[in-house]
Amino acid sequence: MGIQEFITRIISSMKTFRTQMNVRFVDREIETKKIIDDSEKTIFGGMINILYGPKGCGKTTFFKALKFASESQDVDIDVLYISREYEETPELVKLYMPKRFNQILKEIASAIGGSVEISYEGSGIVSASFALFRVVRTAVESIVKGVKGGRKIIIVVDEVRADSEESLSKLRGWLETFANDLGYMNLDYKNKTGGSITVITLVSDALIAEIRHIVGAKVAWSLMWNLSREAMKELAEELNLDIETDILWRLTGGNPRALQTIAIYGLEKWFKEEILKDLRDLYRDLLDIFRDRDVVWRELEQVLQNIDQSPASMLRSMLRRNIIIYIGATSSLSKIPVNEPWIMEDFAYQMPAFYHTLKIMISRRSIDVALKDVLANL
Ligand SMILES: Nc1ncnc2c1ncn2[C@@H]1O[C@H](COP(=O)(O)OP(=O)(O)OP(=O)(O)O)[C@@H](O)[C@H]1O
Ligand SMILES: [Mg+2]
Repeated sequence: MGIQEFITRIISSMKTFRTQMNVRFVDREIETKKIIDDSEKTIFGGMINILYGPKGCGKTTFFKALKFASESQDVDIDVLYISREYEETPELVKLYMPKRFNQILKEIASAIGGSVEISYEGSGIVSASFALFRVVRTAVESIVKGVKGGRKIIIVVDEVRADSEESLSKLRGWLETFANDLGYMNLDYKNKTGGSITVITLVSDALIAEIRHIVGAKVAWSLMWNLSREAMKELAEELNLDIETDILWRLTGGNPRALQTIAIYGLEKWFKEEILKDLRDLYRDLLDIFRDRDVVWRELEQVLQNIDQSPASMLRSMLRRNIIIYIGATSSLSKIPVNEPWIMEDFAYQMPAFYHTLKIMISRRSIDVALKDVLANL
């Protein structure tokens, strides 16, 4: 099977995937192509790839759909998914393996001291109360030892936190040591079987940009963006959202989680809890830093004019609150919209509603802004 046919098959299979809300999975064709086709040079085998993007832009769902497709089609690609079960038990790590890996499941489990269960669709799950990173290493070691055939193996490491000094330094330590080892282990696997092992780490904390200059060359960075306008429209229809496409686009910028929240709770509640609250928290952070209301508003005015030239403390606060995200000098898996005032060269707002609301706040020098004010000024 040629690479094009391979990609077409995967894409059409992904379209039959149903998301958490039992909604049809939409779009992501460009991303799929870039992940599968090595000649696209966006995601690299034998490397740790850090895939970051706005909160709720669809990173997790994308890899769940890819995993589903690779298991339901006869293709030589395998997706392993590792994540922390934050909501269930925070210390629990689960590794979801494809069916055909069941013979090495036990080996991994015994190496990390975890337990094995088989899901109803037949794929294996290893659970362990262990450091996420240790589970990744063990999985790679077991694959090199036990998996036959030149498979393209993608190990997705989800829910990697980069929201504090502590988590950033832990992540940095892992990247620095594991990047080299993975390179060698991949070479080993490649020489033995002709296959490749790729690690993709999903991060949604925009603060991750802080370690770029330190680990930059050791890992590959790529960006995933919110849905395109057309895909957003499709999802809005799936969700029976009765809001004009134009308004939805100007508020959410195609963020699928925002669409879902709006479908469940309505626009007003989404705006208050997901946009207004974060901007008010940002204002309070800034007041702590600059100590003077006038200074804060002046600094914010500057941000609005040219975010790329804002002081580091300002950028850091906005990154930490996941209001903006760094997009400069990163290869993107997704197409990033052009000619949008909220997307600049180096930084972009994670959703345009942040930009529009902040603009009104600044003009009024007040954090009391209502949804109707924003709608009137879109
Ligand atoms: N392509 C898609 N088609 C349909 N729904 C989607 C798509 N992508 C994401 N969604 C929906 O949007 C929601 C958010 O997506 P997801 O959790 O994958 O985002 P994320 O980037 O992993 O978020 P976080 O930053 O919190 O980790 C999901 O509940 C999912 O159902
Ligand atoms: Mg996620």
